[in-house]
Amino acid sequence: MRKFIFAFTLACLLMPAALEARKAATVINVIPYPQSVEIGKGTFKGSGATFNCDPAIDARSISVIRDFADKITFITGRTNSFATPPGLAKIAQEGKMKGFIFLKDGSMGPEEYSIAISKKNCIVSASAYNGFLYAIQTLKQLTDVKIFSEEIDPAQKFLFPCVTIKDKPRFAYRGMHLDCARHFFSVEEVKKYLDIMATYKLNRFHWHLTEDQGWRIEIAKYPKLTQIGAFRNGTMVGKDFNSNDGIRYGGYYTKEQMKDIVKYAEDLGITIIPEIDLPGHMLGALAAYPELGCTGGPYEVWTKWGISEDVLCPGKEGMFTFLEDVFTELMEIFPSEYIHIGGDECPKVEWQKCPDCQARIKALGIKGDDKHTAEEYLQSYVTARIQSFLNKHGRKIIGWDEILEGDLAEGATVMSWRGVKGGIQASAQGFDVIMTPNTYCYFDYYQSPEIEKEPLAIGGNLPIEKVYGYEPFEGLDASQQKHILGVQANLWTEYIATPEYLEYMLLPRMSALSEIQWCKPEDKNFDRFSKALHEESFKIYDTMGYNYRKF
Ligand code: ACM
Ligand code: ZN
Repeated sequence: MRKFIFAFTLACLLMPAALEARKAATVINVIPYPQSVEIGKGTFKGSGATFNCDPAIDARSISVIRDFADKITFITGRTNSFATPPGLAKIAQEGKMKGFIFLKDGSMGPEEYSIAISKKNCIVSASAYNGFLYAIQTLKQLTDVKIFSEEIDPAQKFLFPCVTIKDKPRFAYRGMHLDCARHFFSVEEVKKYLDIMATYKLNRFHWHLTEDQGWRIEIAKYPKLTQIGAFRNGTMVGKDFNSNDGIRYGGYYTKEQMKDIVKYAEDLGITIIPEIDLPGHMLGALAAYPELGCTGGPYEVWTKWGISEDVLCPGKEGMFTFLEDVFTELMEIFPSEYIHIGGDECPKVEWQKCPDCQARIKALGIKGDDKHTAEEYLQSYVTARIQSFLNKHGRKIIGWDEILEGDLAEGATVMSWRGVKGGIQASAQGFDVIMTPNTYCYFDYYQSPEIEKEPLAIGGNLPIEKVYGYEPFEGLDASQQKHILGVQANLWTEYIATPEYLEYMLLPRMSALSEIQWCKPEDKNFDRFSKALHEESFKIYDTMGYNYRKF
């Protein structure tokens, strides 16, 4: 009896720990969390396992599967041999085959995949490149974090837990933006940014390339854009708008560099959407070609932040020729269906005074009304002309939500940044929308109200919990929801001058963003996410060499 009481007491004492252990096994530390997860018992050993690939899988996908095999081989020093046996799907069905088995399943969507891991094998199915990429990203988060390293570790087994996963994203557009104009980031830094995006299954990189503070892309027809427009005579210090550090600052990407980045991103399943911000935010170009402005200048590349009143002059036909030439060269570099044409924060004071702008307004018969001024309609005219030019070349435009001010032509996509109201209005009018509300998605905002403990930021307070809590369909009926292509966060770099600080502002908030973009609302859970972040993602960041904000 005493023995029984002792055993009973011990069982009661151990019960919470046992329950806790069982509870822990009901989730996996994968971000963004897959749609369907069934956890089994035991593990599959990846080290030394053969990679069997369905010969029906396309060559690009086979090459990333091979890279994954080679990575395991490199770290463990044990060869993961590679085979493409005919009839693999049928052999796999018999259930006897060991090792990794990659199958093409043409019934799946292009970003969908499934993984079934037993002690004997790991069967991965997808229909297309991104599906295979995402399956591999999930596998990497399921096994030892060393998979993200370049370190040799002969003792490493690369165990994968037995689990069945079926997964696909909620939104087709899963974006992250980077402003390389206020501060310039090197090719290597941009690639590192893309690497971490790919780890969290983001698939659109919105690259902000032109600004008042610098023009960052080589355009052969207008060499002064990079000779003059890419450099500024110093930068304001901190928040003192009257200061200047006196250090010449600048840089630009050559065409070859941009093409190299486009290819690098493509291999990671990411499409780059370049932005030429117009007609405002154009001092970089105006400094180089002052004839594009209302007054003819002279203009200087700006050394301070804010919104310049000097903007492009839509009264001058040469300004449109310039833009068409720039977009012609841009389209040769960037194959994306969408081109971002900016449209935000364009003051109209110069247009009101400019005889050319006023003559254009008159010639077009534009009249202001109780909704918009004549100058706002003039901006719509600029948007429509560029849209029509790009449409003729098979491209579509995205613009910031200011492009709604006036008449917006069919086929434009609106990026809602001044909160969610632009997205609500645009979707009600039948326009496609990408939600990037500053209230949830501006990663240049502080990450805590204790700003004295944080590096200098633009303002606001956007902690990770708030980012995570964003629900893009809120306030939208079913007909509007259909127009939401997806969600993106923006990283403006007025106060962000170094890669370390950039990464600190990006991470871990971008991991939270990935669950908004990927997961169904009912599958989001901040506690589960936070656990995965601490137990897995922080280790990934450390291993890949990223700086990040701890919490
Ligand atoms: C923006 O933040 N000005 C789009
Ligand atoms: Zn003008």
